[in-house]
Amino acid sequence: MNFTKRTNYICLAVAVGGLLFGFDTAVISGAISFVKTQFDLSTVSEGWLVSSGLLGSIIGVFTTGIISDKIGRKKSIIIAAIMFLISGFGCGFAASFSLLITARMIGGIGVGMASVISPMYISEFAPADKRGRMVAFYQLAITFGILLAYFSNAYILSLSNNSTSELFAEPWRGMFLVMSVPSVIFLFMLIKVPESPRWLVEVNKQNEAKKILYTVRPKPASEKELSDIENAKKRAESKSVSLFHPSLRIPLIIGIVIAVLQQFSGINAIIYYGPNIFQSAGINTSNALLFQVIIGSVNFLATIIAIAYADKYGRKFLLKTGLTGIIISLILCGFLFYTNNTQGIFLLVLMIAYIICFAFSIGPVTWIIINEIFPTHVRVKAVTVCTMALWIAVWLVGQFFPWLLEKAGPAYTFWAFAFFSLINLIFSLTVVKETSGKTLEEMDTAFVAPH
Ligand code: BGC
Repeated sequence: MNFTKRTNYICLAVAVGGLLFGFDTAVISGAISFVKTQFDLSTVSEGWLVSSGLLGSIIGVFTTGIISDKIGRKKSIIIAAIMFLISGFGCGFAASFSLLITARMIGGIGVGMASVISPMYISEFAPADKRGRMVAFYQLAITFGILLAYFSNAYILSLSNNSTSELFAEPWRGMFLVMSVPSVIFLFMLIKVPESPRWLVEVNKQNEAKKILYTVRPKPASEKELSDIENAKKRAESKSVSLFHPSLRIPLIIGIVIAVLQQFSGINAIIYYGPNIFQSAGINTSNALLFQVIIGSVNFLATIIAIAYADKYGRKFLLKTGLTGIIISLILCGFLFYTNNTQGIFLLVLMIAYIICFAFSIGPVTWIIINEIFPTHVRVKAVTVCTMALWIAVWLVGQFFPWLLEKAGPAYTFWAFAFFSLINLIFSLTVVKETSGKTLEEMDTAFVAPH
């Protein structure tokens, strides 16, 4: 395998963590009604079924922050893969509702861990000029995972509808069990993934780092990269900069703000509550799956734009154009509801426009920026804080979206998302700095305020 192929393989293998993240978060949408009937769930228990995964994600993010600097990036990814596997089997064979909740939480831990470690590993491993597109692959994997869950849920459901076999009597079991297949593939793919050279230098294993770099870059490039990493480490040690040092304030604010505002654009409300939104528009939702598949496919395909342009035109260009499109589509969606004009094709067109703009901008770019702006010695902790903020925002939107929809109505809800996206646009134009093409070590001086 040549250098490029090897680097691509490694980054792709790690990006499968994103696929499982997407699958795990989307699979529940198809399974929930069956679980509800089978266990005769109250509204509170139903809420638990959804939030147990989220709670697990928050635990997973936190755990990664603690263990990843100690045991390394690779072992952390392997633990995440094992969590997905346990969760797939655990949910599939759960003998009681409490066991199902426990298994969902374990899957959530996997999601949380993968959401910190996969993009961070890719960001540390990719060559500077391809880092944007490689991390965007991780976002592509998330969208693929979401889509895969919709298709596999539909397939299991059709098997169950057309079969009298006991095996398919409880289709939700099969829906969860499917996750063990990509989990096993993920584990196998990880065998050939080396440890992150940046982490190895951090723990004084320069020789190992060197050996790995030689296998993925030409000799002069790997020597230069190694000496850059070592110099950055020496600089950091001489200043003993902690996460809360004033020099890191700006990147930390940027990371947290863009993470929260990514969620406050309403993405998950539209992906997961899309069929409900259509229902309140008076549109027949008997074909909820079709809606999900259209939105899911558009989300997947439009992410490819970011892969093509994140390094070429830069992160800020994608943010500017995407956020502008997001704001316009959300404002217009609001108007359709406000003026009671939701019956035509326009609502769907606007939602598709929104998804396209999300998929090539704040979807991938948020993950790219969070994982590249911090120096290596504080990266795990800083990324943990930002990713934690993102998951808390996911939870907030999940909790308050149905309430907002009911109390304020869809028009004001869309406008609220548009308002937060406008703040994101202003913030991206004024505070966020361009990072494409810079090495992670150059961020130390180019992005982090001088000490
Ligand atoms: C977000 C997820 C979202 C996904 C949709 C990711 O970047 O963090 O919350 O579900 O994009 O494509």
